[in-house]
Amino acid sequence: MAYEVLFKPMMIGKKNLKNRLAFAPVGMCTADSEGRVTDQVLCHYVARAKGGVGLVIVEHTMSNYRYGLPGSGALSIHEDTHLAGMLDLADAIHAFDAAAVVQLSLGLGRQAALHLEPVGPSAVPFEVREGSAPRGLKFFEGLKSAPPKKLTIAEIEEMENLYVAAVMRLKRCGFDGIEIHGAHGYMLANFLSPLTNRRRDRYGGSFEKRLTLALNLIRRSREIAGDDFIIGFRISGDEHVPGGLPLEDTLKIAAILQKEGVDYIHLSTGTMESWKYTFPEKEGVILPEAEAVKKVVDIPVICPNLHDPKKAAQAVKKGKVDIVSLARPLLADPQWPNKVREGRIGEIQRCILCNGCLSTLFQGFASRCTVNPNVGRERFVPEYFPPPRKSKGRPI
Ligand SMILES: Cc1cc2nc3c(=O)[nH]c(=O)nc-3n(C[C@H](O)[C@H](O)[C@H](O)COP(=O)(O)O)c2cc1C
Repeated sequence: MAYEVLFKPMMIGKKNLKNRLAFAPVGMCTADSEGRVTDQVLCHYVARAKGGVGLVIVEHTMSNYRYGLPGSGALSIHEDTHLAGMLDLADAIHAFDAAAVVQLSLGLGRQAALHLEPVGPSAVPFEVREGSAPRGLKFFEGLKSAPPKKLTIAEIEEMENLYVAAVMRLKRCGFDGIEIHGAHGYMLANFLSPLTNRRRDRYGGSFEKRLTLALNLIRRSREIAGDDFIIGFRISGDEHVPGGLPLEDTLKIAAILQKEGVDYIHLSTGTMESWKYTFPEKEGVILPEAEAVKKVVDIPVICPNLHDPKKAAQAVKKGKVDIVSLARPLLADPQWPNKVREGRIGEIQRCILCNGCLSTLFQGFASRCTVNPNVGRERFVPEYFPPPRKSKGRPI
């Protein structure tokens, strides 16, 4: 079968995945006002795990609540009152034999302009220029921020400490790992990028120093969570903004991440200032950057934006990427993987790339999908209810 390459098991770190398909992180903002798991969060993830992916990467999740999105419904694991819900979430994903990794974030950084006081490594203002946004997000064009507040060394150290505490919480909840969010122009990406990091201390001043924060997070997470815990890293191949992180720097960073023991690299592209690259209006746009990264590392490379099962299978078969992550396609049809596995290609409800999911979300509504009426409403669909636990549970 033309698609069997997508269903070949593989390892990331020490974990065996049943196939080469992942649910990409998709922030839905349906947690409660403090970022705790709700029934909607659980049912949304049951739908995707039940659809047959081998890996679920849980959406942008805050490690601290200072630089995140208070009150927005963004998921968070910044304190112990979040443990119970996150444990339910890990169990719900595992019930369908999918590995469960959480995309752990330091916050929105200088792109917090919409919601909070922007902060970052340096006081470089942020602007969404005409022509930089894709369909559905054009209303962002023209948005400008005041220069962000420059973080002090003590504030950066505190952010690191809170991150490591959050990693430990996720491990206690039974997650298989984390994906460090270093993409899309958010806080950690602000430190990696020459455009936004103009510091002259141990967190900036040279290519190597711009990596200090990322390497501290990797090393300290590994130390506390151990070798069995997956540590992935998401990065934008190219920021596609003048003076931003170029692909040639990302290739050097990728090699360093591998040396530091990162278990996989999840490619993305762009920032909020170049969102037409991050959420492309056609598919296959991110593949060339992922392929370039794949050439410089031996660890698995994950790439999104391959919606057509044929293109996804070809990319894996030709060794351009190891795992295909699906974001909008799994909103449109959570059963995409099962349908491909069973050869029911014609039954897939295709994403029409309208970005309605993002448009609703960024206007403060629950995300909706033009072709799938159940998106954002999975809690009302009995087939998406979490199953009863089969085991007696495990000691924490
Ligand atoms: C509604 C929505 C929310 C997203 N939230 C996140 C997120 O929390 N973290 C992240 O790294 N990427 C996020 N993304 C980007 C996706 O992971 C993915 O890289 C992008 O949508 C391109 O892949 P696709 O063509 O398969 O949709 C989001 C995308 C969508 C559509």
